[in-house]
Amino acid sequence: MHAKGLEGIVVAETSISDVDGKKGELLYRGYDAGNLAQMQSFEEVAYLLLNGGLPNQSELEAFIFALKEKRTLPTEVQHLLRSLPKELMIMDVLRSCISSLNPKATWPPTKEEAIQLIALFPTIIASWIRHSAGKVPLEPDHSLNHVQNYLYMMSGNQPEAAHVSALTSYLILTMEHGMNASTFAARVVSSTESDLPSAICGALGTMKGPLHGGAPTGVLQLLSDVQSDTKSPEEIVREKLQRGEKLMGFGHRVYKTTDPRAIALRHVLKSTGGADQVLSNAVDIEQLITQLLAEYKPGRNLHVNVEYYAAAVMDAIAFKPDWFTPTFCVSRIVGWCTHVIEQSEDNRIFRPQQEYVGTRKN
Ligand SMILES: CC(C)(COP(=O)(O)OP(=O)(O)OC[C@H]1O[C@@H](n2cnc3c(N)ncnc32)[C@H](O)[C@@H]1OP(=O)(O)O)[C@@H](O)C(=O)NCCC(=O)NCCS
Repeated sequence: MHAKGLEGIVVAETSISDVDGKKGELLYRGYDAGNLAQMQSFEEVAYLLLNGGLPNQSELEAFIFALKEKRTLPTEVQHLLRSLPKELMIMDVLRSCISSLNPKATWPPTKEEAIQLIALFPTIIASWIRHSAGKVPLEPDHSLNHVQNYLYMMSGNQPEAAHVSALTSYLILTMEHGMNASTFAARVVSSTESDLPSAICGALGTMKGPLHGGAPTGVLQLLSDVQSDTKSPEEIVREKLQRGEKLMGFGHRVYKTTDPRAIALRHVLKSTGGADQVLSNAVDIEQLITQLLAEYKPGRNLHVNVEYYAAAVMDAIAFKPDWFTPTFCVSRIVGWCTHVIEQSEDNRIFRPQQEYVGTRKN
């Protein structure tokens, strides 16, 4: 018997994070991710994941300096970016730029390479968004922190404090999440002793799928579908479930209770300002869908997941739907790199078995 989707199979020992699906708890290096999202900066939590402990003041300053130093896109990558077809999805642009970044990268991966990738993701995304809209990409502003600078490069305006705070919480809450599909993909690539950029390209391709990082875009569609003039939200959700549709933002392989990141982001949504109506709609629809999922899919324990409130938060800070998945990568790049480095420290190539169910023909 094979384990479809590798359900229940333990593929690695890790000290990076603990995802407890029964308790609904997520720990980064032993710290509760929800608490980190309220108290710490993006840079502090990225440092924690990469290095195993929170930084002291001088370690933090050195880390912030290293990130800022690497923010500027190398000239040849700027040229590549300008030469790409304008209709490419941002995820494909990220993948293309990462491929061309570091021709000398080898195995094992290093923290310096990881810092370069973490620093450059916002620049690549923001440069593409401006370039594809016919605008000149902005240079990073070194007076701003990582999250402020991302918002600045996307919009060209000084970011609002409420937006910085909401986006920081979102990015911290999604920085790392155990052996999810994209992290596993990155570890598999790296287990062949391939380089870090190649592992990250594998992760990016995996993240793009609608069952993983592509879900938040589908959540906005769901929220808009259920608000019709002719039918009630309940009728619409029932029709979707009768058609066998998967409702984006619900269900999780590990969490059999509400995803703790969704609970934290529900609070963040309150703090984005002017989002009262959005929040109350989102909460009402979450309750309706949870009840109907229990009715149509009894025993499956389907609850809201992080993507549902991630979509609502990003909508509230005026991010467009096609920015959602790339923005998820601005945080998850930290988890990917940390896992790839951990894999390299005690590596054995991944090589599972299959069960042949065909017949012999000669
Ligand atoms: C997250 C997800 C991929 C987990 O997949 P999985 O662990 O393989 O779970 P399954 O797809 O086997 O789901 C188990 C059952 O619940 C149903 N189910 C799971 N998520 C569902 C959803 N969001 N809407 C409707 N039904 C759902 C499945 O159809 C299946 O029903 P069945 O037993 O009648 O066949 C899945 O829940 C999903 O597709 N959710 C929507 C996408 C999403 O929000 N992704 C972001 C995750 S953070």
